[in-house]
Amino acid sequence: MADSLTIRRPDDWHVHLRDGAMLHGVVAHTARQFARAIVMPNLSPPVTATAAAQAYRERILAALPDGLPFEPLMTAYLTDHTDPADLVRGKGEGVLTAAKLYPANATTNSAHGVSDIRHLAPVLGAMEQAGLVLCVHGEVTDAEVDMFDREAVFIDRHLQWIVREFPALKVVLEHVTTEDGVQFVEAAGPTVAATITPQHLHLNRNAMLVGGMRPHAYCLPVAKRERHRIALRKAATSGSAKFFLGTDSAPHPRHDKESSCGCAGIFNAPFALESYLQVFDDEGALDRFESFASLNGPAFYGLPINEATVTLVRGGVQVSDEIAAGETVIVPFHAGETLRWRLASG
Ligand code: NCD
Ligand code: ZN
Repeated sequence: MADSLTIRRPDDWHVHLRDGAMLHGVVAHTARQFARAIVMPNLSPPVTATAAAQAYRERILAALPDGLPFEPLMTAYLTDHTDPADLVRGKGEGVLTAAKLYPANATTNSAHGVSDIRHLAPVLGAMEQAGLVLCVHGEVTDAEVDMFDREAVFIDRHLQWIVREFPALKVVLEHVTTEDGVQFVEAAGPTVAATITPQHLHLNRNAMLVGGMRPHAYCLPVAKRERHRIALRKAATSGSAKFFLGTDSAPHPRHDKESSCGCAGIFNAPFALESYLQVFDDEGALDRFESFASLNGPAFYGLPINEATVTLVRGGVQVSDEIAAGETVIVPFHAGETLRWRLASG
């Protein structure tokens, strides 16, 4: 049984770093674990254009502790008014790596999202031409669609259409949560991939609801039935190049989670690698962890793999009950638990 694992430095292909005091409080947690990260644009107001993404990138770099190397890869938030020429310019200037599609009102700060995906055709066509990756929050928002069916319905109604109409567009189904999503990605061509979060590998929907409501297990898309969790674990550890690490770390102050209308989002950045690695260990797939964490993402995005390495060692790490960030405190994923692997060096 291996007691240590050294891999190329990983990247996080989906993270929420927030802004202001919260950004200052959380960014080092991500930068300690990852070389690069795809930074989500759902600030308030959202980052919808190249100039705003450039300014946000500078705020992220300014919030990093001295000497901690980290490269934020920026995204633009698509709206009904996105200017395709601005996205193409942002890609050409090296500011934008991807654009994010939130169906209107799907999740935190998504009121500006896209109301009719078919109207995005000129934007998606321009992205396809320019080689800008499309990151998708794959849930419909129609009131009549059950919460637990929203990903599968999105795939049928919208994702199939996007992939068919824009065959060269690179599409990432972010934070896939269902067997349906896994099967769609596996069956699609090499332009379609998915990120998988640690929480969806560890939790099924019971974690939110058994023995009381557990707001810290609530994120979007919500965790599904056990059979979906099993499908996600199989996909992540399969060695398929179509699945890669994206934490969806989404910090909210404790009081906004523990509320009569609690915010969606799980803050997993502090121990993300430890959390994922425990899953790979349980699945007997330690030898596949490097592909998932460090190789598949860069290959899909057309970026070099990181030169540096990190080492994880067997031996417990205790996750604290809460973590201070700015003026507030956040309850991290695995709060109060001991994880079996520990990041030894970066
Ligand atoms: C994210 C957030 O809080 O910004 N929340 C979440 O539950 N994942 C938004 C998102 O990615 O859906
Ligand atoms: Zn997210």
